[in-house]
Amino acid sequence: MTSTANPPKPRPKHLDLMKIRLPLPGWVSILHRVSGAGLFLFLPVLLKLLDMSLGQANSYETVVQAMSHWWVKVIMAGLIWAYLHHFCAGIRFLLLDMHKGITLPAARAGAAAVFWVSLPLTALVVWRLLF
Ligand code: HEM
Repeated sequence: MTSTANPPKPRPKHLDLMKIRLPLPGWVSILHRVSGAGLFLFLPVLLKLLDMSLGQANSYETVVQAMSHWWVKVIMAGLIWAYLHHFCAGIRFLLLDMHKGITLPAARAGAAAVFWVSLPLTALVVWRLLF
């Protein structure tokens, strides 16, 4: 039974996606999916580059040449971030699966930790590998 103090909410409900504020664990989760998909899609390219870099001297040189283009560096930096975010968030998901850190404050702290670890690591690896 509905009372006037608690009127029914209008249905159907149309969500305004631009107004929804995703909490930090939500960002970790969606970026985990985005990074996993990105890694999956680029896996053949990465394997081909690895194969070429381990092959003849001239195919190795082709890889070195390709890596010197700024746009290739941007894509590689994105893939390095994708791997490190996916790895750190993956460890967090595995811990959550083991019921570790499932309270709200712990889940928020764990989500923040994913960014605090993966972003500096990305900067370090990009700097060491691409410059
Ligand atoms: C090239 C390497 C990898 C690729 C292409 C990849 C790809 C993916 C994809 C596409 C998903 C599904 C995401 C979703 O639908 O939400 C996924 C989930 C997952 N990945 Fe990876 N992954 C890789 C490496 C890793 C590594 C190294 C870890 C270890 C930390 C990991 C841990 C996980 C976990 C735990 C899930 C399930 C998350 C959940 O419970 O929703 N992955 N991965």
